Amino acid sequence: MIVNGTAYRTVWMEGNTVYMINQLRLPHAFEIVALPDHRATAVAIRDMWVRGAGAIGAAAGYAMAQVALEAPDGDGFLAYVHQGAAIIRATRPTAQDLFYAVDRVLAAIEKAPDISTARQAAVRSAQALADENAAAGEAIGRYGASLLPDGCRVLTHCNAGWLAFVDWGSALAPIYAAHRAGKRLFVYADETRPRGQGAQLTAWELANEGIPHTIIADNAAGFFMQRREVDLCIVGSDRIAANGDIANKIGTYEKAVVAHELGIPFYVAAPTSTIDPACPSGEHIPIEERSPDEVLYAEGLLDDGQMGRVRIAPSGSTARNPAFDVTPARYITAIITERGIFKPEHILRALEASGAP
Ligand code: MRU
Repeated sequence: MIVNGTAYRTVWMEGNTVYMINQLRLPHAFEIVALPDHRATAVAIRDMWVRGAGAIGAAAGYAMAQVALEAPDGDGFLAYVHQGAAIIRATRPTAQDLFYAVDRVLAAIEKAPDISTARQAAVRSAQALADENAAAGEAIGRYGASLLPDGCRVLTHCNAGWLAFVDWGSALAPIYAAHRAGKRLFVYADETRPRGQGAQLTAWELANEGIPHTIIADNAAGFFMQRREVDLCIVGSDRIAANGDIANKIGTYEKAVVAHELGIPFYVAAPTSTIDPACPSGEHIPIEERSPDEVLYAEGLLDDGQMGRVRIAPSGSTARNPAFDVTPARYITAIITERGIFKPEHILRALEASGAP
């Protein structure tokens, strides 16, 4: 994606260093951070400098490459690699792409005949993951654009655009592809409390692409659907279970239920790396619960130009903060992948499919 005339990926690696767009600063500042080792990259994943399943997966792959480059020669090499993998796996529990990436780079390391080859294989494998992630987003865009009629009004929840991947995105990729093909579109972006990914990231991306949109409070989505001002919904996913249930950002479930009640198509867009074939159904997906402070405080740009937070709840109140919820397959019209569009109950077929649009 082009930002201020320069083409960027969300996350990339040069030498031993991982670079990423600091998503904690958007939309107020566009800042690149450099992460010198796997521990720094793990902290960036945990603390959401990078977020969104695909971008987390790419960052985790690169962090594994850092592990391999840092590991000592000799007997300690594999022990260090496994310890690093455990640190990266422990950063966030829900996004399947994180585990997919760690496992793939680890397998490349373990298959290598010697340490020097293992280091090269780790870097190559992490790079391949990032490239596949970008290519998948582009293909999802091509498949998904066919579902967007000219003039349609689309509701999306959270951010599943190019910031949430290496490039393109999942839920926003069809919107970008349709827009570039000349279709007229309008997007309702749920603000996505408590972290505000819709208001801060989706709105910033759509503005950058010149796509007409408006931010709505999460609670307003049903209002606009009921008034027939939304023609279809597209959301991303952090993990897809074998039966087609999906986990996505908290609040997705209720949007899907309302869409189903009103007969509005509800699409999920995700690459096949988000499918967890070992997870039989949504109730088995681990759901991250984050700090109550994310609910009790609001963060933003203060009048003095610094980022800051203000408390918005009584000082004695507690809060609960599940970061994701599960939408059962029966509420999902179809899942758009880089290998085609599948009914949720047939999602495992995507793992065998080869299809390029
Ligand atoms: O907690 P986050 O910001 O990492 O949330 C993940 C997401 O961006 C969403 O759930 C998204 O809709 C699907 S992942 C591209």
